[in-house]
Amino acid sequence: MKKAMKIVLIILSLIILIVGYFYWKGYQLKKGYEANEIQYTKKRLPADINFPKSIDSTLISRGKRLSNTLHCTYCHGDLLQGRETEERVSPNLTKVRHQYSNAELVKAIRYGINKDGALIGGDMPSAESYYHLNDTDIKAIVAYIRSLPNLSNENIPSTYGNKNGTSIFDLIRGGYANVFLGWEPNVDEFVYSSPRPAYPSDGIMRYGQYLSQTHCARCHGENLSGENGYWETADLAVGAGYSLDQFERLLREGKALGDRDIGFMTKLAKGYLSHLTDSEIQAIHSYLKKRADSSREN
Ligand code: HEC
Ligand code: HEC
Repeated sequence: MKKAMKIVLIILSLIILIVGYFYWKGYQLKKGYEANEIQYTKKRLPADINFPKSIDSTLISRGKRLSNTLHCTYCHGDLLQGRETEERVSPNLTKVRHQYSNAELVKAIRYGINKDGALIGGDMPSAESYYHLNDTDIKAIVAYIRSLPNLSNENIPSTYGNKNGTSIFDLIRGGYANVFLGWEPNVDEFVYSSPRPAYPSDGIMRYGQYLSQTHCARCHGENLSGENGYWETADLAVGAGYSLDQFERLLREGKALGDRDIGFMTKLAKGYLSHLTDSEIQAIHSYLKKRADSSREN
């Protein structure tokens, strides 16, 4: 009997050692991965943005509208007062803003790096979308964040981020894959293209491209050709098949051709994209049409 106990104990400790080793390996990998991501992100940092001394109310109301169309409000709450959903906890921006300079807020939004120089988790779409925001729009958002009253939000925990982030099991699995399959996280996916031109002043097409990049890329992919991961989305060429009226209906009421509700897109359109102006919707539509035409020619 005693012998059997001993054997069980030995086997148990072996298992704990092995699992512990994989966990440690996975943790090291994750740290290395994050360090690389930050390093690449730093390469993208722009020249400083000059903020005007006095902020006029047009800039603030532009920022307010952007906070809706870019659906910051979906995650951070209607007045950016913080919000907890099933997937994530997004901080109360009226509280944390005091710890940030304007330039640091820009860095947080565009580059997804917080004031401590760490990556902002929780799938905030900086890399795919907000990175492309031009100086005027990013200033407008910062001005809007500054203009809000202090809102307390007792419901928001002090630790936040993606609830479906790296679990202990993910780490163990990652460590296991690394030891036995020689698997490494793919760092190259964080090498970004060079910055886009600052402001699309040359016509509706460029404006449409800018709006699509900043508003649609989070889910339809950085080059708008659809995603096949967490989001399973179509190439935005689909939108080129819509007439302008139909396209407006999609972005305002969330109704796709044939009167279909299409999951999260319907929710996003109704609550957030519906704040886009007529001319913005028109610009996106024109751009998607042009994009589809030129990809047919190639
Ligand atoms: C998909 C959800 C999501 C969207 C959309 C989103 N955020 Fe976030 N954001 C988060 C989460 C989650 C965090 C905290 C993540 C962490 O660090 O763990 C965060 C962190 C931040 C921070 C840093 C706060 C701090 O505590 O240091 C700022 C600033 C911020 N977001 C601004 C914005 C703005 C402005 C927009 C829109 C342009 C936006 N976010 C859109 C989820 C989102
Ligand atoms: C938060 C994620 C998200 C964002 C941001 C987003 N979409 Fe979507 N979109 C979806 C999902 C999910 C679907 C449904 C799956 C599919 O058919 O691609 C969808 C579907 C679509 C479709 C297909 C409609 C059809 O006929 O089936 C079009 C067109 C579209 N989106 C346009 C846009 C445009 C334009 C933007 C930016 C202004 C945008 N989406 C931003 C998630 C998003």
